[in-house]
Amino acid sequence: MKALAINGSPRPGGNTAILLRHVCDELENEGIATEIFQLGGRKVAGCIACYKCFEAKDKRCAVTDDAVNDCIAKMDQADVILIGSPTYFADCTAATKALMERAGFVARANGDMFKRKIGAAVVAVRRAGAIHAFDSINHLFTITQMIVAGSNYWNIGVGREIGEVAKDQEGVLTMQTLARNIAWLLRKIGA
Ligand SMILES: Cc1cc2nc3c(=O)[nH]c(=O)nc-3n(C[C@H](O)[C@H](O)[C@H](O)COP(=O)(O)O)c2cc1C
Repeated sequence: MKALAINGSPRPGGNTAILLRHVCDELENEGIATEIFQLGGRKVAGCIACYKCFEAKDKRCAVTDDAVNDCIAKMDQADVILIGSPTYFADCTAATKALMERAGFVARANGDMFKRKIGAAVVAVRRAGAIHAFDSINHLFTITQMIVAGSNYWNIGVGREIGEVAKDQEGVLTMQTLARNIAWLLRKIGA
């Protein structure tokens, strides 16, 4: 069993990374292997609507000069896909959205290749807009037949400067509970 945690923040050691780390640490405690994929801060472009993925059906995006195909291959191998993003103007980051456009289209072109994987969004926020970012990410999961795991609160953590989110005890607890629910669900579906 493997979980892939994608970080859509351009700050690799930032608040989103810390939240994802909490989820991954708890998943590893439950015997699930994890990997964090740093997406933000790299060159990532949005979908160019070439529709070549629907012709090739090879689980790849026709745009090959950035990190997206690497990420799609890792998503394909994972049982659990976590997508983390800071809140930028009340939404996920542009890099996160670019990945979702392209991975989402490739998934749909290939028979919903993420079907019945478990998905969860993780969002860092200074003050407001996290729920909208959380919803944006969940839209990818729910249109690709993924199963969305929840926690005892929406999966957000509060902080602005790097590391501040570690002081948000409720946010940290939310991440740990999320991980335990994902592990429970994985065992139930026998992945
Ligand atoms: C371009 C930009 C836009 C932001 N927009 C918001 C926002 O709409 N609401 C908010 O509460 N915080 C906003 N923030 C703050 C970040 O969400 C916050 O600092 C978060 O913890 C950063 O996570 P990171 O360390 O993983 O990058 C913004 C930050 C940047 C750089």
